[in-house]
This record gives sequence, C-alpha cells and structure tokens, in this order.
Amino acid sequence: MAGQVDVIIGAQWGDEGKGRVVDALAGRMDVIVRYQGGANAGHTVIVGDEKHVFHLLPSGMLYSGCLCVIGNGVVVDPDQLLSELKELQEKGKDRARLLISGSAHVVMPYHKVLDGLDEKFRGQDRQIGTTKRGIGPCYVDKYNRVGIRVEDLLDGHVLREKLEFNLEIKNLLLSRVYDESPLPFDDLYDKALTWGKALAPYVGDASLLVDEALGEGKSVLLEGAQGTLLDADHGTYPFVTSSHPTAAGGCLGVGIGPTRIDRVIGIVKAYCTRVGDGPFPTEDQGEKGAYLREKGCEFGATTGRPRRCGWLDMVALRYAVRVNGITAIALTKLDVLDGLSEISVCTAYEIDGKKERHFTNNSDKLIEARPIYETLPGWSESLDACRTFDSLPQAAQDYVTYIEKTTGVPVILIGVGPKREQTILRG
Ligand code: GTP
Repeated sequence: MAGQVDVIIGAQWGDEGKGRVVDALAGRMDVIVRYQGGANAGHTVIVGDEKHVFHLLPSGMLYSGCLCVIGNGVVVDPDQLLSELKELQEKGKDRARLLISGSAHVVMPYHKVLDGLDEKFRGQDRQIGTTKRGIGPCYVDKYNRVGIRVEDLLDGHVLREKLEFNLEIKNLLLSRVYDESPLPFDDLYDKALTWGKALAPYVGDASLLVDEALGEGKSVLLEGAQGTLLDADHGTYPFVTSSHPTAAGGCLGVGIGPTRIDRVIGIVKAYCTRVGDGPFPTEDQGEKGAYLREKGCEFGATTGRPRRCGWLDMVALRYAVRVNGITAIALTKLDVLDGLSEISVCTAYEIDGKKERHFTNNSDKLIEARPIYETLPGWSESLDACRTFDSLPQAAQDYVTYIEKTTGVPVILIGVGPKREQTILRG
C-alpha cells in the first residue's frame, strides 16, 4: 500500500505557527520535507523549556528515525544550514537523517549583497520588505538559468565554470549599477568548495527517496514556509516571496505528482499578522492590534521585526482554501484572544463602494479594501490548560465552529499555547 502525503501550508501571510503543527504531527511521520523558500523562514518548536528555531532544516529534525529532506524547491544558504546543524549536534538533538536535494539552488554571498542593494535602490515607496537573506536574487538566478545548485558544489570544474560566469555578471552589476567594489573569485570559489565538502554526505536524489518511501507505505509530510498570501503567483504581488508556499509548490519543490497528495492542512492563526510591506485589509493599528502583538509575541523569529497585527480575515481564508484545496485546518494561537470581550472577523470587503465577497490578489485594489466586520463574543478565561475541545469556553468553541462553517473545512488541531502539550487534537 502506498504511503500517505500531507502538505502543511500557511493559510495567511506566514508566521501562522507551522513549526509547532509540524512538530505535533512529526511523531507519526517517516519523512519530513521542506519544499520552498530558504532561511527566511523561522519555524519555532518549543519542547519543555527549550526553544528551537528552524530556518532551513525541516522541523522534524528532533525526531529520531525520521528522514528530513530539503527539496529542490528550497534555496540553501550553506553557512546557515551548517550552523543550524552544528547547533543541533552540540545539543545532541540531530536525531533525524538529513537529505539535501542536489537540485536545490545555493544562496551565494553575492545574492545577499544584491538583495540589500536592490531594496535600497527601490527606496521607501517601492521596497518589498525582504529579509535581505539573498532569497529573491537566488531565485532570479534559478529562473534565469544561471544558478548554482548544491550538486555543483561537489564538482570543482563545474563550480569554477559556473561561478566565473556568475561573478562576471554580478561584478558588472555591482560596479556599473550600484557603484560597489567587485567580489574576488578565489575567496568565493574556496568557500563554495568547503561548503561542498561539508554538505556532500547529505546530498542525494530527494524525489527518488520520497517515492521509494511512499512505495514502502511510509508517511510523508511536506512542510511549507511563509504563507499563501505571499505566494509569487497567488499572493499580494509584488509584496510576495519569490517561491510557491501554496500546496502545489509542495509537489514541485520535491518532485512528486499532485495525485500523491492525500491531505492539505492549512495553518490558520486565530487572528492575522503580516511582516513587511503590502496590503493588509484587517490590520488594526490601534490598541487592539498592539494587544495582539504583545500577547502573541508577534516579533519575527528570523529578523525580530514587529509584525503588523489585525483580525481574522475570512475573505482571505476562503481564498486560501480555494487555491490550496485545503482539506483540514490547524488553528493556532487561539489563547492569544483570551481576555477580549469581543472579537472582530472580516466577512467581506468594501471596494470602490461595492461589497466584495471574493479576495483579490491585485495589491492596488486590495489596498483600497475596507473590511466589513462581524463581531463575535470573546471569553475571559485562560485557554492555557485546555486539552479537549469540550473544555474550551463556549465562546471559544463557537469561534472554532464559526471558522469551520464559513470555510467548510474541519478544524483538526487547536493551539492553546506555544508548548508541545498545549495542543488539542481532534480526529
Ligand atoms: P514562517 O514559516 O516563518 O511563517 O513560521 P511559522 O509559521 O512556523 O511561525 P513561527 O514558528 O514563527 O510561530 C509563531 C510563534 O507562535 C512561535 O513563537 C510559536 O512558539 C508561537 N505559537 C505557535 N502556536 C501557538 C499557540 O497556539 N499559542 C501561542 N501563544 N503561541 C503559539
């Protein structure tokens, strides 16, 4: 019997708490795959008193017997990956086996330099708000067919040829466009060869291994980073990430067909946040937004940037259900709403004086959208210690049921705190 494939995707603008959901499901999984993005993700897993933040490694690394895969759709920053791996090894927590797809692209030092310069060049008005980790420029090279892949680091001749060509272009850009000093070849080449040596034991054919695992009846979890509304095609372009955090990106980013996917689990935070620039119809720039930020610790795991906060947006969530084919929802951070007497939920937008029930990924239109809210009753109790759905206060149960009814999708997991045990599993 063929094994099961679940895809986990962020249903909003990222930071929904995917790390803790992956961790909650990882114990039942044999293979966990990161399929897109790079070290711009920051998946937090809290076990006991220890906090682990995974930027590039799949969040399943804490499970022994697990195979953790970095798929071809990921862009790999070797320094970041090796330091994450070293940190886990030093703590004795590198329990899983790691496999890196040879076809994953490498984030080179010039990608980071260009990322920063490009944001500066765009100026305040056109800035994307990237993490400046070189992710965007690395994907640009991938699609421009000049990128350096992980497997290239293992072959000195191939590497030399590709790097020479790349540096020629990049150095022209640096000196002629940005008025910056060119980067020396030898340093970069030596660095890249060192990366190759260190990564060699992990490099392999991820697509084949996942296929073989499925053939043996094993369970596979595809772990998305960022979120649907940041997808390069379906997100609020141009304020998006350079990859595909949607469910289809899962197939592409590891090399399996769409017919292999069994469940698409959408991670939904009980309210909304957004990092960086771009439209955010339900943003609350007042007291309540600040309350959510403080209570929800809404500061970036990677950059420490304060996140913009606001209310749950059902228009955007129904869209996420549509473009991902979400079959189950994991609702995180419900406890952050504790103590609010009323909770606003956006049910439609008003754009150009007209009521709109459907989301638009046209940022120029979305920026004009005024949220139309429905007010739901809140609860005063703390959810900290709730471990079953029935033990939640009635208003919290009703909030969950409201989400299920509006989306037509069951909520199978509820987060009532950041710790592993603060999870209500339903079915
Ligand atoms: P990206 O892929 O970068 O978008 O990350 P992510 O979706 O994995 O989000 P992240 O791991 O940064 O999670 C956000 C934060 O919320 C972390 O600090 C988690 O520990 C915390 N968190 C997750 N679930 C819950 C919850 O149910 N309640 C509370 N209070 N905190 C939670």
